[in-house]
Amino acid sequence: MSKKKVLVTGGAGFIGGNFVQYMVSKYPDYDIYNLDLLTYAGDLTKHRDNETMENYHFIKADIANRDTIIPLFEKVKFDYVVHFAAESHVDRSITDPGVFVQTNVLGTQVLLDASKHVGVTKFVHVSTDEVYGELDFDPTTFFTEETPLQPNSPYSASKAASDLLVRAYHETYNLPINITRCSNNYGPYHFPEKLIPLTISRVLNDEKVPVYGDGKNIRDWLHVIDHCSAIDLVLHEGLNGEVYNVGGHNERTNLEVVKTIISTLGKSEDLIEFVKDRLGHDKRYAIDPAKLEQLGWKPTYTFETGIAQTIQWYLDNKEWWEQIISGDYQNYFENQYKLNR
Ligand code: NAD
Ligand code: TYD
Repeated sequence: MSKKKVLVTGGAGFIGGNFVQYMVSKYPDYDIYNLDLLTYAGDLTKHRDNETMENYHFIKADIANRDTIIPLFEKVKFDYVVHFAAESHVDRSITDPGVFVQTNVLGTQVLLDASKHVGVTKFVHVSTDEVYGELDFDPTTFFTEETPLQPNSPYSASKAASDLLVRAYHETYNLPINITRCSNNYGPYHFPEKLIPLTISRVLNDEKVPVYGDGKNIRDWLHVIDHCSAIDLVLHEGLNGEVYNVGGHNERTNLEVVKTIISTLGKSEDLIEFVKDRLGHDKRYAIDPAKLEQLGWKPTYTFETGIAQTIQWYLDNKEWWEQIISGDYQNYFENQYKLNR
């Protein structure tokens, strides 16, 4: 039997990068193709070890470029596509929405066309709980797969648009698909523009941590490895055409998250700086993962074990994040900070 060929888009980013590493080691009999444009969020140093693995391949390409994507699919004939590549940061989508439509909507459509053209066996679209909009603070309410899509940010609107295209390619052309909608991830190789790695890196450097508004907004945190195992399960066992929510019931206010990191690192809460609120800031996200649990998924980390592991990783891998936060990122952060003050 020939080896399965798995295309992972966005495999130089945070979650895609962890997923590539997970797949390369778990499935030596698969060929894993990491396709990434290497935008500001893409970084290949995380795959130094993979480069020596025979089943790992890297392709630099733009998912929205039909002229390279269609011939690539014709040449390699992928069996599976797991689609992570996206513009992923809400704050950036507020200042520059155009590239979110280009990559997240048009890029997804090009991949769907290519997948239909060569007849892939499964297309897994990695989406987000943010497509459902926001919940209020009633702790008994959760997003289910039936919750209507009501995205509030340009980021979540572009992800919702891509979800609807994926659904439409299934309904219209019978493309075998699944959509996963996960809550906020954290863990190794998280880009330091997002709350948890931003807080860890700034606290370690004794720099102020900007908390938007009153810090009472709630996110439902999942360790990235638990997200990877969920996608692996959906790829192999997901029922054709189905949506699966992914989350581990780890709701925390932003202030709780920041304070946990500060106390774990033995620093002072004086580092917290309350700044202007984000425009259209969603109040609360919380996932009901019952459907995925019925498929056999169980997370391995609690928030306590996961955040401890993650903080230790940032302590052990200072070189990685110091290289990321130098240069262009520093300009981005200073501008963002100015906007928020
Ligand atoms: P990320 O920003 O860390 O990585 C995105 C990757 O996509 C980068 O490597 C980047 O270079 C690549 N990319 C961007 N534009 C591209 C293009 N046009 N062509 C090819 N590659 C391109 O993002 P992430 O946090 O790892 O998120 C990955 C996916 O998971 C996204 O689709 C996101 O919507 C979804 N998601 C993220 C979270 C989260 O908490 N981060 C939660 C749920 C779902
Ligand atoms: P983020 O990590 O950007 O993820 P998302 O917006 O996709 O949920 O933000 C997580 C939460 O933290 C969100 O409520 C906004 C808040 N936040 C801050 O308070 N300060 C910051 O500097 C950042 C980046 C986020």
